[in-house]
Amino acid sequence: MAEIANASAPDLKGVEELRIKYLSKKGEISALMQEFRTVAADQKRELGQRLNELKNLATDRINALREQLENAPSASELSADLSRTAAPLPLGARHPLSLVRDEIVSIFSRLGFTIAEGPEIEDDWHVFSSLNFADDHPARDMQDTFFIQRNPDILLRTHTSSVQSRVMETSRPPIRIICPGRVYRNEAISARAHCFFHQVEALYVDENVSYADLRQTLLYFAREMFGADTKIRLRPSYFPFTEPSAEMDISCNICGGKGCAFCKHTGWVEILGCGMVDPNVLEACGIDSKKYSGFALGMGVERITNLKYRVKDLRMFSENDRRFLNQFQAAH
Ligand code: DAH
Repeated sequence: MAEIANASAPDLKGVEELRIKYLSKKGEISALMQEFRTVAADQKRELGQRLNELKNLATDRINALREQLENAPSASELSADLSRTAAPLPLGARHPLSLVRDEIVSIFSRLGFTIAEGPEIEDDWHVFSSLNFADDHPARDMQDTFFIQRNPDILLRTHTSSVQSRVMETSRPPIRIICPGRVYRNEAISARAHCFFHQVEALYVDENVSYADLRQTLLYFAREMFGADTKIRLRPSYFPFTEPSAEMDISCNICGGKGCAFCKHTGWVEILGCGMVDPNVLEACGIDSKKYSGFALGMGVERITNLKYRVKDLRMFSENDRRFLNQFQAAH
């Protein structure tokens, strides 16, 4: 009796062995049952009771052992320290172009510019005609621009200047917008050119907006972006949608203006195009050019990112190589 009451088993297999030992057809209790038949009649009652007790005891003990083992925590559960803090999930890194775009947008938003967006699949009017491009301008050539074959009026925008005309058509001055977005050009892909890249466009239209406002805005931007010592210079240039037009250089942020391979020993690097909005553009968008004037500027996000992080090959930006992307984790 005591042996059965205290029986133990290390695992379910051991429990099964116990069951076979005591309860199976050839087990010890069954053997006792066989013997019970030969017992004298006057002893049957008492012995029968005791045998039944033994059988119930064995059954209960074995069931209890089985239940205990089935509900026991597994080895890994036993070793888990539930009071430990959870293992931190590795944080993804932000894409360098997103970091730089957001920084540009944030600098202009401190001057009161708000974000405006437009479609990437555009029409000729918003990308070219409204912006004073002549009919025979080379940008309208299939070599430079992706047109939709069935309808040459529909194309992938080649610059974010198209957002300018969309906003001017639908709102009245004062207009102060910053337009980040992706643009497309029909270029062979290489380390220095890609068929898509990113631009940020800014536009300010109001009464009495002057070239001095443009220059001061550019200086503020350059210093916020590249450091307080940064100098700027504006070189005359040409864009169909601005008159006068200029390109802005900043003092080379690698050699500090002394001259190095990066700035081709000039001490300056070009970073954006800008100018006073051509009155033809204001009129095309329904804004009175006698009452209002404006300035516009546009820059490539890849170019600014290269200046900040020295990425030598443009293709890295779109290859999704995590070894490249993870390097920018610390920057935010
Ligand atoms: N849209 C021009 C380009 O893609 C960049 C640009 C130049 C935008 C001068 C402007 C601007 O707003 O005034 O090259």
